Amino acid sequence: MSAKDNAPKFSIKTGSPEKLKSDCIAVGVFEDGRLSATARVLDKATGGRITAILKSGDMDGSASSTLLLRELPGIAAVRVLLVGLGKQGGLAEKDYRDAIASAVKAASNTAARDVILALGEVKVGKRTTDWNLSQAAIVAGDVLYRFDHMKSKPDTRARLGSIGFLADSTAAAGLKQGVAMVRGMALARDLGNMPSNVCTPSYLAGQARQLARSYGFKCKVMDKTACEKLGMGSFLSVAKGSDKPPMFIELRHEGGKKGEQPVVLVGKAITFDAGGISLKPPADMDEMNYDMSGGGAVLGAFRAIGELGLKLNVVGLVPACENLPDAHANKPGDIVTSMSGQTIEILNTDAEGRLILCDALTYAERFKPAAVVDLATLTGACVIALGHHPSALYANDDKLAQALEQAADQAWDRVWRMPLWDEYQEQLKSNLADMANIGGRAGGSITAACFLARFAKRYAWAHLDIAGTAYRGGRDKKGSTGRPVPLLVQYLIDQAGK
Ligand code: BES
Ligand code: MN
Ligand code: ZN
Repeated sequence: MSAKDNAPKFSIKTGSPEKLKSDCIAVGVFEDGRLSATARVLDKATGGRITAILKSGDMDGSASSTLLLRELPGIAAVRVLLVGLGKQGGLAEKDYRDAIASAVKAASNTAARDVILALGEVKVGKRTTDWNLSQAAIVAGDVLYRFDHMKSKPDTRARLGSIGFLADSTAAAGLKQGVAMVRGMALARDLGNMPSNVCTPSYLAGQARQLARSYGFKCKVMDKTACEKLGMGSFLSVAKGSDKPPMFIELRHEGGKKGEQPVVLVGKAITFDAGGISLKPPADMDEMNYDMSGGGAVLGAFRAIGELGLKLNVVGLVPACENLPDAHANKPGDIVTSMSGQTIEILNTDAEGRLILCDALTYAERFKPAAVVDLATLTGACVIALGHHPSALYANDDKLAQALEQAADQAWDRVWRMPLWDEYQEQLKSNLADMANIGGRAGGSITAACFLARFAKRYAWAHLDIAGTAYRGGRDKKGSTGRPVPLLVQYLIDQAGK
């Protein structure tokens, strides 16, 4: 079973819209019956058919409504899809994304195999056309993503396999970045959606090796013995309760100048989190295969890095193991020694993410990083605090935090900064060891970040708690989102351009 690449093809289309041959062309219309620029061109070519249809009241142009028309005279495309854009005058980012999503959904519900989206011409807030196109690619990639690796019969419905954007060719750079993000997201999503009996630590290591082969990265996978030699007592303590061997994955992309300090990405990859001896309750435990989403995002970001050939040095670190209850598992009250030498009293074995990340953060020191960014589905408390829209951002360096906030806004993969105040550190006190691994119920996402901060003092560091954003839960919506791959890729693009 491997993560196939079945993302649609994206391209830029230039020329007169009425003459472009395609199965479908999607154009925007506004609530007051006004037409977007391309809709006006089509209207003229058809002798006013679109205006007449709007007048008839069949469509009111309200946000994200759609109307499918077929075989209009004077139009080379088989179908014309009218897409409602709401009130004229500056769409908000969310409205634009919703309109793209409805257009792609409506087109994919027909037999059309390709669609040209002429929606990138609308003004969205203060965004550029490049932004419009890369966002459209991300949204289209999201809508068209399918995961049928685990079905006995693959989905045979007609697939919308190619998406064209009506734009001039100068927008190619923006689109290329969006497409790389889509491909990176698709890998992160496939890995997330694979159940834990398929996506094991060894499976992730295999995926990393495959990426290295495809894109020329360096790849090193450390097994239990190698991690023991490094003194990763905290990481290995979590792995002990499972018979699946732990893997510490290291990927290196050397696209920058020799000797230039790398950006290090660290991703939590618990391929299944049952909680260990502090066993989780049964409800929603099935979703804990997504507890490797941080690691999956690192691998996804590396696919995008490879696609773009980024001129930057980047290291990816993915500590991978399972957290299960077993005779060998950590027990509440156990004390372990981390690679940093600091000792940890494990008061709750379900707070395991920080136990594997702390050793990875210590290991990261050897790369003399320009910055370290870790990603983890770390706490349920993060979901309570922020819900499912932003990832929580923590940082010990304001410049790094601002760079990530900017990239998050640009990629529309948003974050919200949280405090890392010393006051919270007191909640991690232990009478017996250097620290406890939990800080109580109050501010649970914050105290988890404070724990990590103790291992990240030697470099600029940021932590993203992605528990609320990396996947959707619930039986009918269950699935990985591919976040925060767009944010990471945007951040790396920005760093490479400096
Ligand atoms: N992987 C979980 C966090 C999580 C919970 C992610 C729900 C997504 C949805 C993590 O390992 C965990 O179990 N955290 C505990 C920490 C607690 C014991 C201090 C939690 O959040 O309950
Ligand atoms: Mn846990
Ligand atoms: Zn976990």
